[in-house]
Amino acid sequence: MATRLCVVGSVNADLTFTVDALPRPGETVLASSLLPSPGGKGGNQAVAAARAGATVELVAALGTDGAAAQLRGHLQANGVGLKGIATIPGPSGSAAILVDAQAENCIVVAPGANGHLSLSSPVTQAVVADSEVVLVSLEIPLDTAVAAARIARSSGAVSILNASPAPHDPTELAQLFDVVVVNEDEAAPWTDRPVPHLVITRGSQGARYVGQQRLDIASPAVEAVDTTGAGDVFAGVLAASWPEGVEHALARACAAGALATLVHGAGDCAPYSEAIEDVMGAS
Ligand code: RIB
Repeated sequence: MATRLCVVGSVNADLTFTVDALPRPGETVLASSLLPSPGGKGGNQAVAAARAGATVELVAALGTDGAAAQLRGHLQANGVGLKGIATIPGPSGSAAILVDAQAENCIVVAPGANGHLSLSSPVTQAVVADSEVVLVSLEIPLDTAVAAARIARSSGAVSILNASPAPHDPTELAQLFDVVVVNEDEAAPWTDRPVPHLVITRGSQGARYVGQQRLDIASPAVEAVDTTGAGDVFAGVLAASWPEGVEHALARACAAGALATLVHGAGDCAPYSEAIEDVMGAS
């Protein structure tokens, strides 16, 4: 059965600059290419989960600019349900992304409409409540993330937090979410908190699970060209696969995250379920 997943998060119009080396403060560098693409952690996660076989609704905010229609079209084309999309007068979110020759990136986000996302409408609340799994990331107001976790708890859904960007104070979030997904460099604030399921992503090393048991799952080896969005693909596929058991969900998420690094740009880098199963079958 396909997982009924609600993703609550950002949608951005990305501009990706490919450079030899990331600039130091005060330095100007020339890019060898410039790629506009759909992005935003919420949108990327929703697309990844839909391609992995989940039935997905996205709760997000778009602006009234030209980017909004393109972003909406990309989500629709990937089978993501848009009942929970709000339109906020003004610009959509956007992101400037630099990717270097080692496939590492740095990202600056202008939140635009994402900064006004709320769960105040009954329609949006119903979209969250009518889910089996709720996946939340943090390029949206903290109150909205907290509200999503509360609705998930009262409706009996599993709540998963992708703690990115890193919050200033994780205390309340750690008490509200069932699962926290965090990258290794930002994991320290979470390891001493009462999170029932902690998933630590370790880039090309795979992922670590800390819960009632401890698991280390390896990622398939790949020649990465761009790691942007790989964490979003990992989180989306993990959420889509969570009802099938932790170990299987982690293995699927690691395989999907590795495949995502083979494609430039974030919004279109998620693999389809056949490719994920092929990689898992081969390892
Ligand atoms: O994780 C990658 C994403 O972060 C990009 O798509 C960008 O929009 C930012 O949200």
